[in-house]
Amino acid sequence: MRIAIDGPAAAGKTTLARSLAEALGYLFVPTGAMYRAAALARQRQIPLESMEISVEAGGRVSLCGEDVTDVLSRPDLDEMSSRMAVDSRIRRRLVEIQRRIAANGSVVMEGRDIGTVVLPDAELKIFLWATEEERARRRHEDQGGEFAEILAGIRRRDERDSTRPDSPLREASDAVVVDTTGKRPAEVLTAVLELAEERRARLAR
Ligand code: DC
Repeated sequence: MRIAIDGPAAAGKTTLARSLAEALGYLFVPTGAMYRAAALARQRQIPLESMEISVEAGGRVSLCGEDVTDVLSRPDLDEMSSRMAVDSRIRRRLVEIQRRIAANGSVVMEGRDIGTVVLPDAELKIFLWATEEERARRRHEDQGGEFAEILAGIRRRDERDSTRPDSPLREASDAVVVDTTGKRPAEVLTAVLELAEERRARLAR
């Protein structure tokens, strides 16, 4: 089964996708981290032709053979990855890797265009949402810094991610919208696990 989780910045996609994958025994594929690794490659002046990005067990991401997972949440990569993600050459490279991974087994894949472009026939599509203020508050709790600046950064990224011509952030017509505003991660996980089990049972029939 392929589960696609899309949604705007800081909606809790990674937290949900990771715990869902663990609960189901599926591979967790954080595509946001792959775009962040592409931004890191640009910072390191690695040419696109030599940019090798892979996803290992537990959603760990490697760039040219080096595990870079722990640096990918750096705030400077928030903005830079969103800028890199408008480049169709980069998208083509990453989408090809993402589809190859999904062809090999069950996955929980999170991103912006998974249900619409990467895996349009995924068995379950979730569109994870929360208000801008709530998303900024969560980021602020995790990273600290200026709340107003974090909120502005989220708005800027949402705007860029949803208005770019190639594979914009958009909810698939067959996605289930899950509003996480005011909900704890465990509550969201329980609700989505229920949907996944229901879908799995229906597929087995
Ligand atoms: O989810 P995130 O914040 O880690 O993603 C970083 C950026 O990567 C995000 O601003 C847009 C881009 N992205 C994308 O364009 N498509 C995806 N499937 C995942 C992320």
